Amino acid sequence: MSDSLLRHKTIWIIGANSDIAKALMLYITTENCTLKLFSRDMISLQNFIEKNNIKAECIYFDITDRSQTECLLQSFNTPDGIIITAGYLPCQNCMGDIAEINKTVASNYLGILVFLEKIKEKLKNDRCRFLCIVSSVGGDRGKSSNSIYASSKSGLTCYLEGLEQELTPFGITVMIIKPIWIKTKMTGKDNKIQKSFISQTPEQVAHKIYTAIINNRKGVRYTSLWAFCISIIIRLIPGVIYRHLDI
Ligand SMILES: NC(=O)c1ccc[n+]([C@@H]2O[C@H](COP(=O)([O-])OP(=O)(O)OC[C@H]3O[C@@H](n4cnc5c(N)ncnc54)[C@H](OP(=O)(O)O)[C@@H]3O)[C@@H](O)[C@H]2O)c1
Repeated sequence: MSDSLLRHKTIWIIGANSDIAKALMLYITTENCTLKLFSRDMISLQNFIEKNNIKAECIYFDITDRSQTECLLQSFNTPDGIIITAGYLPCQNCMGDIAEINKTVASNYLGILVFLEKIKEKLKNDRCRFLCIVSSVGGDRGKSSNSIYASSKSGLTCYLEGLEQELTPFGITVMIIKPIWIKTKMTGKDNKIQKSFISQTPEQVAHKIYTAIINNRKGVRYTSLWAFCISIIIRLIPGVIYRHLDI
């Protein structure tokens, strides 16, 4: 069972310079995969794979750039699995900065959606086995502190649920990973997240993702009991109460 989705397979990781992706690579390399790593930060990625003796091809890729998506789809054969960890957390509500709003929506939602829409027919025809995309519990409900990030993740989860319905008849597993707080470079300046007992390390989240993949788990996967419980509770709070909360 453990070798079905990863062992000796070709796996793409998009947003490979993410702390979660790096931790995940250390598990995935034990499966003798052919790894193709897509990132904007080639220096950091190369340093990481050399330091950890990981055999992989590193390719410059920005998920918000549609011409790069076209080029990527023409240049490579369809992989057996795709993992997407790319994401962008802006300051509060982007402070009214339209460029920041566009960047947030493009990185977390539109870029991923366009990429998957462009590749999905190839995935169906070429018998890709799985997609594993990191969304967030933060997208379960709007919140005044960061409604733009929350809505971009909400849109992503909603899109992926529809995609899962479309791809399931073709034997393609879609995993929607929903963490809550993780101590990564994304949240490095947020003391609340860095110090909270419910925050996970990238290694803990990576292990959850790895076990979800090797066990071919489908649909929404929470990375901790806290993520699961908070997701349920937050969605059950009636609007009449929710609109008065300061979160
Ligand atoms: N940290 C948390 O508390 C938390 C909670 C819930 C969900 N998540 C989600 O988990 C995922 C991984 O985040 P992380 O916590 O591991 O943070 P991270 O280390 O900052 O990773 C995010 C990665 O996304 C990449 N990225 C951003 N925009 C991109 C683009 N346009 N094209 C390609 N790559 C792009 C970044 O690449 P560069 O290195 O090139 O900038 C960065 O390496 C994200 O989707 C995030 O939203 C995080």
